[in-house]
Amino acid sequence: MILTTLLIGALLVGALITFIVLGFTHFVPWLFVLATIGMVAWANFRDKRKFLVWKDEYSVGIEAIDRDHKKLLNLINQFQTAVLYRTGREFEQEAFDSLVEYTRTHFRREEDLMEEHGYPDFEPHREQHRQMIAQVEACMAQYMSEGRQVPLERAVSFLQDWLINHINGTDQQYSEFLISKGVH
Ligand SMILES: [Fe+2]
Ligand SMILES: [Fe+2]
Repeated sequence: MILTTLLIGALLVGALITFIVLGFTHFVPWLFVLATIGMVAWANFRDKRKFLVWKDEYSVGIEAIDRDHKKLLNLINQFQTAVLYRTGREFEQEAFDSLVEYTRTHFRREEDLMEEHGYPDFEPHREQHRQMIAQVEACMAQYMSEGRQVPLERAVSFLQDWLINHINGTDQQYSEFLISKGVH
């Protein structure tokens, strides 16, 4: 991210200097302009691709759970924006806290439903939730003590992979069972 910004800055400076030295009629400054536009477009495309997008196949067929999952994707995207644009400790911390807080709320909702309806795989599912919370808390504790030496980009990737795999795997497994119990 920083490297891309520096490169775009250098291209802009290049364009400015060559415009001053060679004038508007020379092709070289325009090459710098084209390269700058290309670089900005590429950076936008690259960053957009990293964000999570809801797909219908993620649905577990239970409205409240789908709503939670969509909100969690949005919160991960917000955390990613804070990390990607290096918005500083306060924003990164705030985005992370909102994400973890809502993850807990969502896990509680799922666990209550599974427990209430006697879902047979309730315990291993709850254990997965516990392990995930423990891992993100460990990452954040390290960030709090060591600051930005901790690569938060790794935390974002971990959260993205974990959430998508969990929604699309483990959470799908209770879908049929809970729906058959009248949950919708
Ligand atoms: Fe879930
Ligand atoms: Fe779950």
